[in-house]
Amino acid sequence: MKGQVKVFDTTLRDGEQAPGCSMNLHEKIEVARRLEKLNVDIIEAGFAASSPGDFQSVSEVAAHVKNCTVASLARCNEKDIDAAYRAVKNAVSPRIHVFIATSPVHMEYKLKMTPEQVIERTANMVRYAKSLCGDIEFSAEDATRSDPEFLARVVRTAIKSGANVINIPDTVGYSTPSEMRSIIERLRADVPECEGIEISVHCHNDLGMATANTLAGILGGARQVECTINGLGERAGNAPMEEVVMAIKTRPDIYPADTRIDTTQIYRASKAVFGIIGRAVPINKPIVGTNAFAHEAGIHQHGVLANRSTYEIMTPESVGIPTNQIVLGKHSGRHAFEKKLVSMGFNLSEEEINRCFADFKKLCDKKKETTDRDIEAIVWDMSPEKAPSVYKLRSFSVHTSDSEAATAVVSLEKDGKVKEDVALGNGPVDAAYKAVDKIVNPPEYVFENYVIQSVSEGKDSLGEVMTTLRYGDRTFSAKGVSTDIIEASIISYIHTLNKLIDHSGSGEGR
Ligand code: KIV
Ligand code: ZN
Repeated sequence: MKGQVKVFDTTLRDGEQAPGCSMNLHEKIEVARRLEKLNVDIIEAGFAASSPGDFQSVSEVAAHVKNCTVASLARCNEKDIDAAYRAVKNAVSPRIHVFIATSPVHMEYKLKMTPEQVIERTANMVRYAKSLCGDIEFSAEDATRSDPEFLARVVRTAIKSGANVINIPDTVGYSTPSEMRSIIERLRADVPECEGIEISVHCHNDLGMATANTLAGILGGARQVECTINGLGERAGNAPMEEVVMAIKTRPDIYPADTRIDTTQIYRASKAVFGIIGRAVPINKPIVGTNAFAHEAGIHQHGVLANRSTYEIMTPESVGIPTNQIVLGKHSGRHAFEKKLVSMGFNLSEEEINRCFADFKKLCDKKKETTDRDIEAIVWDMSPEKAPSVYKLRSFSVHTSDSEAATAVVSLEKDGKVKEDVALGNGPVDAAYKAVDKIVNPPEYVFENYVIQSVSEGKDSLGEVMTTLRYGDRTFSAKGVSTDIIEASIISYIHTLNKLIDHSGSGEGR
């Protein structure tokens, strides 16, 4: 009989702590909602003790999530463990995830502790966490560079003190698949107490082996995998959930286990996370990249037309990629539109459907045929990740030519009041952004990134713009979508400024 591999998602903790990946509370709740839809087993919602903002977001995720365990990370000290417990205690199924480093280099230079002190701290803190919460995961940070005998002692101590999940992180992405497998096999052999508890692996991607190492961990006997959507995470990231899950699903002959993941939600979750952090999906990214299922070479196309399995080891439908057929047009009614949304897996409120339908009708006036990707872009454009709404675009006009500076007039609305301004720029986007700045007078930021891409094929396609601004040590990103790329650029910029203003508490009344 096939076993079960639990999926522990740490997008909101290990993913979110990576530079350029920070999320606000609305965004974290949106990601948690997606993870729940995916059917992950455990959501690591954050590191509650690291800041009041993290504490709040872990607590809110714990309160929202109903179908999976919610965990908070904690170092091996009472203060961290108390904060973690307070943040997750109201979850339907709470978990505290405690960790301490076990490699010689980490113990000596980071912790400044002897191995005996690490053993003692592990015993005391796992016992303390267990006195608060029934579900305790223990991680031996930098396990793959630890002495195997010492690792076995620490793991035995953690189990004796109450840990029911033991996680073996490849913290610096140093291990290889055969090594990862043998670390898990040896641990199970050296520590018979591992029988009856769950062994987990947590792999970083510094050498591009996070997925392979995670899968090798399963072959060694691990039954929990820690990963993130799109592989977000420190440095080169963590094991991407979409890769690990689809490898398990596609090669049942190799992996003796299954996950509970609804793979048809993978593409939407990936898109939502990329949208939130303001990055475009890399075209060649496995599973979710634009080219992941594209067959350009004539010989491949010929094969796929004759039989899909010639060049396709999995179908785009199995990961929820819209097939991009022409779906609805100008004469389609609200009922047909609503049915289409449901068939695409969106579960929207009446009010949200009405808003999307109004945008869909506007799009039909500009574009003859709309595709699944267009409809998807409309839905993403009104998704909660955009909140909060401080300024709204009322109208704009631009004048641009090859012989003089571009001019833009932009009119914005805030609290029912309309303000208009005009600016010159070295192009229409620059001019429009300068006009917006004159109205908003935002706090000083660094303009970090601007990405434009078309949503579907054809000259009349919707354009999607993603703007990223850095303010202090945080980045803010948001999307704008329109058939007019200047409009998409302005909308994206305003949404991003709204997030920045909301975070900084500035911009009011200016
Ligand atoms: O990479 C790592 O070691 C971690 C632990 C805290 C689990 O993220
Ligand atoms: Zn990690």
